[in-house]
Amino acid sequence: MAMKFYQLTATERIKELINLKVISEEDAALLLNGGGLSREVADHMIENGIGLFDLPLGVAQNFMVNGRSVWVPMVIEESSVIAAASNGAKIVAQNGGFTAKADPPRMIGQIQVINVPNPVPAKRNVLRHKQELIAKLNASHPSLINRGGGVLDLSSKIFQKSTAGPMLVFYLTIDVRDAMGANLVNSMLEEIAPDIARLTEGEIRLCILSNYADKRLAHASCTIRPATLAKEEQAGEEVVDRILVAHALAEVDPYRAVTHNKGIMNGVDAVVIATGNDWRAVEAGAHSWACKKGKIRPLSSWTKDSDGNLHGELEIPLAVGIIGGATQVHPLAQICIRMMKIQSSGEMAEIIACVGLAQNLAALRALSTEGIQKGHMALHARQIAIAAGAQGADIDRVAEMMCKEGNIAVDHAKEILRRNEITNS
Ligand code: MEV
Repeated sequence: MAMKFYQLTATERIKELINLKVISEEDAALLLNGGGLSREVADHMIENGIGLFDLPLGVAQNFMVNGRSVWVPMVIEESSVIAAASNGAKIVAQNGGFTAKADPPRMIGQIQVINVPNPVPAKRNVLRHKQELIAKLNASHPSLINRGGGVLDLSSKIFQKSTAGPMLVFYLTIDVRDAMGANLVNSMLEEIAPDIARLTEGEIRLCILSNYADKRLAHASCTIRPATLAKEEQAGEEVVDRILVAHALAEVDPYRAVTHNKGIMNGVDAVVIATGNDWRAVEAGAHSWACKKGKIRPLSSWTKDSDGNLHGELEIPLAVGIIGGATQVHPLAQICIRMMKIQSSGEMAEIIACVGLAQNLAALRALSTEGIQKGHMALHARQIAIAAGAQGADIDRVAEMMCKEGNIAVDHAKEILRRNEITNS
Protein backbone atom coordinates (compact mmCIF):
# COMPACT_ATOMS: atom_id res chain seq x y z
CA MET A 1 0.00 0.00 0.00
CA ALA A 2 1.30 3.46 -0.89
CA MET A 3 2.65 5.39 2.06
CA LYS A 4 0.64 8.34 3.27
CA PHE A 5 2.25 11.77 2.93
CA TYR A 6 2.90 12.05 6.66
CA GLN A 7 4.62 8.66 6.68
CA LEU A 8 7.28 9.76 4.16
CA THR A 9 10.63 11.26 5.08
CA ALA A 10 11.00 15.02 4.63
CA THR A 11 13.03 14.44 1.45
CA GLU A 12 10.36 12.10 0.06
CA ARG A 13 7.68 14.65 0.87
CA ILE A 14 9.57 17.28 -1.08
CA LYS A 15 9.81 14.89 -4.05
CA GLU A 16 6.10 14.22 -3.80
CA LEU A 17 5.39 17.96 -3.86
CA ILE A 18 7.47 18.23 -7.06
CA ASN A 19 5.48 15.34 -8.59
CA LEU A 20 2.24 17.06 -7.68
CA LYS A 21 3.60 20.31 -9.18
CA VAL A 22 3.13 22.10 -5.86
CA ILE A 23 6.76 23.23 -5.92
CA SER A 24 9.37 23.47 -8.66
CA GLU A 25 12.67 21.57 -8.83
CA GLU A 26 14.48 24.83 -7.96
CA ASP A 27 12.31 25.44 -4.92
CA ALA A 28 12.86 21.83 -3.86
CA ALA A 29 16.63 22.25 -4.15
CA LEU A 30 16.43 25.32 -1.94
CA LEU A 31 14.32 23.51 0.64
CA LEU A 32 16.72 20.56 0.71
CA ASN A 33 19.65 22.90 1.30
CA GLY A 34 18.06 24.63 4.26
CA GLY A 35 17.06 27.43 1.94
CA GLY A 36 16.50 30.06 4.58
CA LEU A 37 17.94 33.49 5.05
CA SER A 38 21.65 34.01 4.61
CA ARG A 39 23.46 35.56 7.56
CA GLU A 40 24.21 38.53 5.37
CA VAL A 41 20.59 39.24 4.41
CA ALA A 42 19.45 38.64 7.98
CA ASP A 43 22.01 41.13 9.23
CA HIS A 44 20.54 43.75 6.92
CA MET A 45 17.01 43.09 8.11
CA ILE A 46 17.45 43.94 11.78
CA GLU A 47 19.86 45.71 14.08
CA ASN A 48 22.52 44.07 16.25
CA GLY A 49 22.03 40.73 14.50
CA ILE A 50 24.00 37.81 15.88
CA GLY A 51 22.51 34.83 14.03
CA LEU A 52 19.54 33.02 12.63
CA PHE A 53 16.72 31.27 14.46
CA ASP A 54 15.12 28.32 12.66
CA LEU A 55 11.59 26.99 13.11
CA PRO A 56 10.01 23.91 11.51
CA LEU A 57 8.28 24.41 8.15
CA GLY A 58 5.59 21.91 7.14
CA VAL A 59 2.61 21.70 4.80
CA ALA A 60 -1.03 21.15 5.65
CA GLN A 61 -2.93 18.87 3.30
CA ASN A 62 -6.53 18.48 2.15
CA PHE A 63 -7.45 22.14 1.85
CA MET A 64 -10.16 22.81 -0.69
CA VAL A 65 -10.78 26.55 -0.88
CA ASN A 66 -13.39 27.96 -3.26
CA GLY A 67 -13.22 24.76 -5.29
CA ARG A 68 -9.43 24.74 -5.54
CA SER A 69 -7.08 22.32 -3.84
CA VAL A 70 -4.29 24.08 -1.91
CA TRP A 71 -1.19 22.87 -0.06
CA VAL A 72 -0.70 25.24 2.84
CA PRO A 73 2.76 26.07 4.20
CA MET A 74 2.93 26.41 7.98
CA VAL A 75 5.80 27.45 10.23
CA ILE A 76 5.16 26.30 13.77
CA GLU A 77 7.07 24.93 16.74
CA GLU A 78 4.04 23.18 18.27
CA SER A 79 3.38 19.54 17.39
CA SER A 80 -0.19 18.55 16.35
CA VAL A 81 -1.05 21.87 14.71
CA ILE A 82 -0.36 20.80 11.12
CA ALA A 83 -1.93 17.38 11.70
CA ALA A 84 -5.03 19.04 13.18
CA ALA A 85 -5.35 21.57 10.34
CA SER A 86 -5.03 18.78 7.76
CA ASN A 87 -7.57 16.73 9.65
CA GLY A 88 -10.10 19.57 9.89
CA ALA A 89 -9.55 20.37 6.20
CA LYS A 90 -10.09 16.72 5.25
CA ILE A 91 -13.50 16.67 6.90
CA VAL A 92 -14.46 19.92 5.18
CA ALA A 93 -13.16 18.62 1.82
CA GLN A 94 -15.52 15.64 2.17
CA ASN A 95 -18.28 18.24 2.28
CA GLY A 96 -17.30 20.30 -0.74
CA GLY A 97 -14.56 22.38 0.87
CA PHE A 98 -14.41 25.89 2.28
CA THR A 99 -15.98 29.00 0.84
CA ALA A 100 -13.89 32.09 1.49
CA LYS A 101 -13.94 35.74 0.61
CA ALA A 102 -11.60 38.60 1.46
CA ASP A 103 -12.57 42.26 1.63
CA PRO A 104 -10.65 44.63 -0.63
CA PRO A 105 -7.23 45.26 0.99
CA ARG A 106 -8.11 48.52 2.77
CA MET A 107 -5.89 49.73 5.58
CA ILE A 108 -6.39 52.71 7.84
CA GLY A 109 -3.76 55.14 9.06
CA GLN A 110 -4.25 57.92 11.56
CA ILE A 111 -2.86 61.38 12.17
CA GLN A 112 -3.10 62.85 15.64
CA VAL A 113 -3.36 66.64 15.86
CA ILE A 114 -3.17 68.51 19.16
CA ASN A 115 -3.35 72.15 20.21
CA VAL A 116 -5.96 72.88 17.56
CA PRO A 117 -7.41 76.31 18.38
CA ASN A 118 -10.90 75.52 16.98
CA PRO A 119 -11.35 71.77 16.39
CA VAL A 120 -14.81 71.85 14.78
CA PRO A 121 -14.02 74.43 12.05
CA ALA A 122 -10.53 72.88 11.66
CA LYS A 123 -12.03 69.48 10.94
CA ARG A 124 -14.48 71.07 8.48
CA ASN A 125 -11.69 72.95 6.79
CA VAL A 126 -9.70 69.75 6.16
CA LEU A 127 -12.72 67.85 4.93
CA ARG A 128 -13.54 70.70 2.51
CA HIS A 129 -10.18 69.97 0.89
CA LYS A 130 -10.63 66.20 1.09
CA GLN A 131 -10.80 65.43 -2.65
CA GLU A 132 -7.82 67.65 -3.37
CA LEU A 133 -5.73 66.00 -0.62
CA ILE A 134 -6.68 62.49 -1.79
CA ALA A 135 -5.86 63.43 -5.41
CA LYS A 136 -2.49 64.82 -4.33
CA LEU A 137 -1.56 61.63 -2.50
CA ASN A 138 -2.74 59.40 -5.32
CA ALA A 139 -0.80 61.46 -7.86
CA SER A 140 2.40 60.80 -5.95
CA HIS A 141 1.83 57.01 -5.97
CA PRO A 142 1.14 56.19 -9.63
CA SER A 143 2.22 52.55 -9.41
CA LEU A 144 -0.31 51.89 -6.65
CA ILE A 145 -3.02 53.52 -8.77
CA ASN A 146 -1.95 51.45 -11.79
CA ARG A 147 -2.38 48.31 -9.71
CA GLY A 148 -5.92 49.38 -8.78
CA GLY A 149 -5.18 50.73 -5.30
CA GLY A 150 -4.94 54.22 -3.81
CA VAL A 151 -6.42 56.48 -1.17
CA LEU A 152 -10.16 55.96 -0.85
CA ASP A 153 -11.20 58.21 1.98
CA LEU A 154 -10.19 60.81 4.52
CA SER A 155 -12.32 61.12 7.65
CA SER A 156 -11.95 62.67 11.05
CA LYS A 157 -12.98 62.47 14.67
CA ILE A 158 -12.73 64.95 17.52
CA PHE A 159 -11.87 63.53 20.93
CA GLN A 160 -12.99 66.32 23.22
CA LYS A 161 -11.50 64.66 26.26
CA SER A 162 -8.38 62.61 26.78
CA THR A 163 -5.72 62.53 29.48
CA ALA A 164 -3.75 64.88 27.20
CA GLY A 165 -6.67 67.20 26.47
CA PRO A 166 -8.76 67.50 23.30
CA MET A 167 -7.40 66.12 20.06
CA LEU A 168 -8.35 65.91 16.44
CA VAL A 169 -7.65 62.68 14.58
CA PHE A 170 -7.70 62.12 10.81
CA TYR A 171 -8.05 58.71 9.21
CA LEU A 172 -6.84 57.80 5.74
CA THR A 173 -8.37 54.69 4.17
CA ILE A 174 -6.05 53.26 1.55
CA ASP A 175 -6.41 50.31 -0.78
CA VAL A 176 -2.90 48.87 -0.50
CA ARG A 177 -3.44 46.04 -3.04
CA ASP A 178 -0.97 43.18 -2.53
CA ALA A 179 1.16 44.73 0.22
CA MET A 180 0.58 44.43 3.93
CA GLY A 181 0.63 48.18 3.65
CA ALA A 182 2.41 49.52 6.74
CA ASN A 183 5.15 51.36 4.86
CA LEU A 184 2.83 52.69 2.22
CA VAL A 185 0.27 53.96 4.73
CA ASN A 186 2.89 55.51 7.01
CA SER A 187 4.54 57.28 4.07
CA MET A 188 1.23 58.70 2.87
CA LEU A 189 0.35 59.91 6.36
CA GLU A 190 3.65 61.74 6.68
CA GLU A 191 3.24 63.20 3.21
CA ILE A 192 -0.13 64.71 4.02
CA ALA A 193 0.72 65.76 7.58
CA PRO A 194 2.03 69.26 6.71
CA ASP A 195 -1.24 70.03 4.86
CA ILE A 196 -3.24 68.84 7.86
CA ALA A 197 -1.12 71.00 10.17
CA ARG A 198 -1.68 74.04 7.96
CA LEU A 199 -5.43 73.49 7.57
CA THR A 200 -6.04 72.84 11.28
CA GLU A 201 -3.46 75.27 12.66
CA GLY A 202 -2.64 72.44 15.03
CA GLU A 203 0.41 70.42 15.95
CA ILE A 204 0.96 67.03 14.34
CA ARG A 205 1.99 64.19 16.62
CA LEU A 206 1.42 60.54 15.62
CA CYS A 207 1.26 59.52 11.98
CA ILE A 208 0.84 55.76 12.00
CA LEU A 209 -0.95 52.80 10.49
CA SER A 210 -3.69 51.25 12.61
CA ASN A 211 -3.40 47.51 13.19
CA TYR A 212 -7.13 47.41 13.75
CA ALA A 213 -7.66 46.20 10.19
CA ASP A 214 -11.46 46.16 10.37
CA LYS A 215 -11.78 47.12 6.70
CA ARG A 216 -9.67 44.17 5.61
CA LEU A 217 -11.58 41.18 6.90
CA ALA A 218 -11.38 37.65 5.57
CA HIS A 219 -14.41 35.38 5.80
CA ALA A 220 -14.36 31.59 5.67
CA SER A 221 -17.25 29.17 6.01
CA CYS A 222 -18.04 25.49 5.71
CA THR A 223 -21.05 23.22 6.06
CA ILE A 224 -20.44 19.70 7.30
CA ARG A 225 -22.68 16.64 7.16
CA PRO A 226 -22.81 14.94 10.57
CA ALA A 227 -21.75 11.54 9.19
CA THR A 228 -18.35 12.98 8.27
CA LEU A 229 -17.73 14.02 11.89
CA ALA A 230 -18.44 10.65 13.48
CA LYS A 231 -15.90 9.22 15.90
CA GLU A 232 -15.48 5.64 17.04
CA GLU A 233 -17.42 6.34 20.21
CA GLN A 234 -19.92 8.91 18.92
CA ALA A 235 -22.30 9.18 15.98
CA GLY A 236 -21.89 12.28 13.78
CA GLU A 237 -25.08 13.91 15.11
CA GLU A 238 -23.74 13.64 18.63
CA VAL A 239 -20.39 15.15 17.58
CA VAL A 240 -22.28 18.10 16.02
CA ASP A 241 -24.08 18.70 19.31
CA ARG A 242 -20.88 18.34 21.29
CA ILE A 243 -19.12 20.91 19.08
CA LEU A 244 -22.03 23.31 19.61
CA VAL A 245 -21.74 22.90 23.37
CA ALA A 246 -17.98 23.53 23.16
CA HIS A 247 -18.61 26.66 21.11
CA ALA A 248 -21.27 27.85 23.53
CA LEU A 249 -18.71 27.96 26.34
CA ALA A 250 -16.51 30.29 24.29
CA GLU A 251 -19.54 32.55 23.75
CA VAL A 252 -20.11 33.05 27.47
CA ASP A 253 -16.73 32.59 29.14
CA PRO A 254 -13.67 34.73 28.40
CA TYR A 255 -11.41 32.02 29.85
CA ARG A 256 -12.56 29.71 27.08
CA ALA A 257 -12.92 32.38 24.35
CA VAL A 258 -9.22 33.28 24.60
CA THR A 259 -8.18 29.63 24.23
CA HIS A 260 -10.70 29.03 21.45
CA ASN A 261 -9.21 31.98 19.55
CA LYS A 262 -5.65 30.90 20.38
CA GLY A 263 -6.39 27.62 18.62
CA ILE A 264 -7.59 29.52 15.55
CA MET A 265 -4.42 31.64 15.66
CA ASN A 266 -2.29 28.46 15.79
CA GLY A 267 -3.22 27.96 12.16
CA VAL A 268 -3.43 31.61 11.14
CA ASP A 269 -0.04 32.58 12.57
CA ALA A 270 1.70 29.53 11.12
CA VAL A 271 0.80 30.60 7.58
CA VAL A 272 1.41 34.27 8.33
CA ILE A 273 4.94 33.43 9.52
CA ALA A 274 5.61 31.02 6.63
CA THR A 275 4.83 33.80 4.18
CA GLY A 276 7.10 36.33 5.90
CA ASN A 277 4.21 38.44 7.15
CA ASP A 278 3.88 40.48 10.33
CA TRP A 279 2.20 38.08 12.75
CA ARG A 280 2.16 40.62 15.58
CA ALA A 281 -0.01 42.86 13.41
CA VAL A 282 -2.35 39.98 12.63
CA GLU A 283 -2.50 38.93 16.29
CA ALA A 284 -3.19 42.48 17.49
CA GLY A 285 -5.95 42.90 14.91
CA ALA A 286 -7.56 39.52 15.49
CA HIS A 287 -7.87 39.77 19.26
CA SER A 288 -9.16 43.34 19.10
CA TRP A 289 -11.73 42.24 16.53
CA ALA A 290 -12.79 39.48 18.91
CA CYS A 291 -13.44 42.18 21.53
CA LYS A 292 -15.34 44.54 19.25
CA LYS A 293 -18.55 44.21 21.28
CA GLY A 294 -16.75 45.20 24.48
CA LYS A 295 -16.15 41.63 25.62
CA ILE A 296 -14.00 38.90 24.11
CA ARG A 297 -15.97 36.54 21.92
CA PRO A 298 -14.99 33.58 19.72
CA LEU A 299 -13.74 34.62 16.30
CA SER A 300 -15.62 31.68 14.80
CA SER A 301 -19.24 30.66 15.07
CA TRP A 302 -20.71 27.14 14.87
CA THR A 303 -24.41 26.50 14.32
CA LYS A 304 -26.64 23.65 13.16
CA ASP A 305 -28.64 24.22 9.98
CA SER A 306 -32.19 22.98 9.38
CA ASP A 307 -30.82 19.73 7.87
CA GLY A 308 -28.76 19.00 10.97
CA ASN A 309 -25.45 19.96 9.30
CA LEU A 310 -22.76 21.76 11.24
CA HIS A 311 -22.12 25.22 9.83
CA GLY A 312 -18.94 27.08 10.70
CA GLU A 313 -17.90 30.64 9.98
CA LEU A 314 -14.82 32.66 10.72
CA GLU A 315 -14.36 36.38 10.25
CA ILE A 316 -10.96 37.82 10.99
CA PRO A 317 -8.99 40.94 10.05
CA LEU A 318 -6.02 39.83 7.97
CA ALA A 319 -3.46 42.44 7.01
CA VAL A 320 -1.17 40.22 4.98
CA GLY A 321 0.76 40.86 1.80
CA ILE A 322 2.48 38.93 -0.94
CA ILE A 323 4.87 41.73 -1.85
CA GLY A 324 7.23 43.90 0.16
CA GLY A 325 9.14 43.37 3.37
CA ALA A 326 10.21 39.90 4.46
CA THR A 327 7.74 38.28 2.04
CA GLN A 328 10.11 39.31 -0.72
CA VAL A 329 13.43 39.05 1.07
CA HIS A 330 13.06 35.63 2.70
CA PRO A 331 13.62 32.86 0.12
CA LEU A 332 11.43 30.40 2.03
CA ALA A 333 8.59 32.92 2.27
CA GLN A 334 8.76 33.18 -1.51
CA ILE A 335 8.53 29.40 -1.89
CA CYS A 336 5.62 29.31 0.54
CA ILE A 337 3.73 31.99 -1.36
CA ARG A 338 4.37 30.22 -4.68
CA MET A 339 3.21 26.91 -3.19
CA MET A 340 -0.29 28.27 -2.64
CA LYS A 341 -0.54 29.39 -6.30
CA ILE A 342 -2.15 32.68 -5.37
CA GLN A 343 -2.25 35.91 -7.32
CA SER A 344 -3.23 38.43 -4.65
CA SER A 345 -3.04 39.27 -0.96
CA GLY A 346 -6.80 38.70 -0.80
CA GLU A 347 -6.48 35.13 -2.04
CA MET A 348 -3.86 34.48 0.60
CA ALA A 349 -6.10 35.96 3.31
CA GLU A 350 -8.92 33.66 2.16
CA ILE A 351 -6.70 30.60 2.58
CA ILE A 352 -5.46 31.76 5.98
CA ALA A 353 -9.03 32.23 7.23
CA CYS A 354 -9.83 28.66 6.11
CA VAL A 355 -6.80 27.36 7.99
CA GLY A 356 -8.05 29.12 11.14
CA LEU A 357 -11.48 27.56 10.74
CA ALA A 358 -10.06 24.07 10.04
CA GLN A 359 -7.85 24.35 13.11
CA ASN A 360 -10.81 25.36 15.23
CA LEU A 361 -12.97 22.52 13.91
CA ALA A 362 -10.28 19.93 14.63
CA ALA A 363 -9.70 21.30 18.13
CA LEU A 364 -13.41 21.43 19.05
CA ARG A 365 -14.04 17.95 17.66
CA ALA A 366 -11.15 16.47 19.60
CA LEU A 367 -11.82 18.42 22.80
CA SER A 368 -15.49 17.59 22.87
CA THR A 369 -14.99 13.87 22.20
CA GLU A 370 -11.89 11.91 23.20
CA GLY A 371 -9.97 14.95 24.50
CA ILE A 372 -6.91 16.65 23.12
CA GLN A 373 -4.15 14.80 24.90
CA LYS A 374 -4.44 11.42 23.20
CA GLY A 375 -3.38 12.61 19.76
CA HIS A 376 -1.37 15.51 21.14
CA MET A 377 0.87 13.52 23.43
CA ALA A 378 1.77 10.99 20.76
CA LEU A 379 3.18 13.83 18.65
CA HIS A 380 4.55 15.72 21.62
CA ALA A 381 6.42 12.58 22.71
CA ARG A 382 8.76 12.96 19.73
CA GLN A 383 9.80 16.42 20.92
CA ILE A 384 10.36 15.05 24.42
CA ALA A 385 12.50 12.24 22.96
CA ILE A 386 14.62 14.78 21.06
CA ALA A 387 14.95 16.93 24.19
CA ALA A 388 16.27 13.82 25.98
CA GLY A 389 18.94 13.40 23.31
CA ALA A 390 17.36 10.77 21.02
CA GLN A 391 18.54 10.85 17.42
CA GLY A 392 17.51 9.21 14.14
CA ALA A 393 15.33 6.11 14.48
CA ASP A 394 15.58 6.37 18.27
CA ILE A 395 13.25 9.40 18.22
CA ASP A 396 10.19 7.43 17.10
CA ARG A 397 11.19 4.36 19.09
CA VAL A 398 11.55 6.28 22.35
CA ALA A 399 8.36 8.25 21.66
CA GLU A 400 6.39 5.06 21.03
CA MET A 401 7.77 3.44 24.16
CA MET A 402 6.86 6.47 26.28
CA CYS A 403 3.29 6.43 24.91
CA LYS A 404 2.97 2.70 25.51
CA GLU A 405 4.22 3.05 29.06
CA GLY A 406 1.99 6.08 29.62
CA ASN A 407 4.89 8.19 30.84
CA ILE A 408 5.89 11.04 28.52
CA ALA A 409 8.67 12.96 30.23
CA VAL A 410 12.27 13.87 29.47
CA ASP A 411 13.60 11.85 32.40
CA HIS A 412 11.71 8.81 31.26
CA ALA A 413 12.96 9.23 27.67
CA LYS A 414 16.53 9.38 29.04
CA GLU A 415 15.85 6.22 31.00
CA ILE A 416 14.62 4.42 27.84
CA LEU A 417 17.73 5.58 25.95
CA ARG A 418 19.95 4.31 28.79
CA ARG A 419 18.15 0.95 28.78
CA ASN A 420 18.78 0.73 25.05
CA GLU A 421 22.48 1.47 25.48
CA ILE A 422 22.79 -1.31 28.07
CA THR A 423 20.93 -3.77 25.79
CA ASN A 424 23.16 -2.87 22.84
CA SER A 425 26.45 -2.90 24.73
C1 MEV B 1 -3.54 24.40 21.73
O1 MEV B 1 -2.42 25.01 21.15
C2 MEV B 1 -4.82 24.92 21.10
C3 MEV B 1 -6.12 24.44 21.74
O2 MEV B 1 -6.08 24.73 23.14
C4 MEV B 1 -7.24 25.18 21.08
C5 MEV B 1 -8.58 25.01 21.74
O3 MEV B 1 -8.63 24.71 22.93
O4 MEV B 1 -9.59 25.24 21.04
C6 MEV B 1 -6.28 22.95 21.62
